[in-house]
Amino acid sequence: MAMDYEGFKKSVYELTKIDLSSYKEKQMKRRIDTLIAKNEIVGYDAYVKAIQTDKEMFEGFVNYLTINVSEFYRNPEQWEILDKNVFPDLISRYGKNLKIWSAACSTGDEPYSLVMALSRHLPLSNIKIIATDIDKQVIAKAKVGLYNEKSIASVPKDLKEKYFTKIGSSYQISEEIKSRVEFKQHNLLKDTYPSDCHLIVCRNVLIYFTEEAKQDIYKMFNSALSSRGILFIGSTEQIMNYKELNYDRYKSFFYQKSN
Ligand SMILES: C[S@@+](CC[C@H](N)C(=O)[O-])C[C@H]1O[C@@H](n2cnc3c(N)ncnc32)[C@H](O)[C@@H]1O
Repeated sequence: MAMDYEGFKKSVYELTKIDLSSYKEKQMKRRIDTLIAKNEIVGYDAYVKAIQTDKEMFEGFVNYLTINVSEFYRNPEQWEILDKNVFPDLISRYGKNLKIWSAACSTGDEPYSLVMALSRHLPLSNIKIIATDIDKQVIAKAKVGLYNEKSIASVPKDLKEKYFTKIGSSYQISEEIKSRVEFKQHNLLKDTYPSDCHLIVCRNVLIYFTEEAKQDIYKMFNSALSSRGILFIGSTEQIMNYKELNYDRYKSFFYQKSN
């Protein structure tokens, strides 16, 4: 009997430890079916065999699956809230050594933006960002730190001049910024979370998850935050039952651990 989508999800879990059941099914299945057709493969059996044997195809699959569009200072108006409200508040409450986690950081645009934005408030030597993603390929790209003009379009002009060098048509982020970020592979659905974070930034990834997976992750973020720590989410996201999950509303797209 030919493998169905349920069987495919099991094989993918065995191969990648990515549990497709936690992602919105209609959208994910459509993406996967499109990718399989693009590779000119017919059926899930043949595709599983292909990704088992061809390393490049395997990595291409994980990369495609995880949807990793990002950019620096994504939704600049929210980065203004970070600058004007969140950072001063966190520094006044917790001091200079903040523990900040950029969860599902993709190609590094987000954690590097955090370092640059925080550099307006603290010396670089005080800044350390933990940045994690499930996808090894985006982490490798983040560590290289080369971006196109469009990805850095929202970086404030002075910071762009200070921390990027133009190489051909690309922009290289400076070593000073890079060295403040520690990248690690981490699966939000399965791995242990860091603890005592003052700020967790997790944007534009939970939109792909089922409601149940989202709720579990919001709970785990709550436990990962220090008392009165802050969670910063994406501009199309909202935590409807934030009170139930032990959060207070801080500003739009920012929630604070209640106690
Ligand atoms: C659209 S990007 C968002 C990047 C960045 N946070 C932003 O807002 O620009 C989504 C990222 O989530 C990652 N991702 C998907 N599933 C994940 C999981 N289970 N655990 C950790 N990261 C995951 C993807 O690899 C991808 O890099």
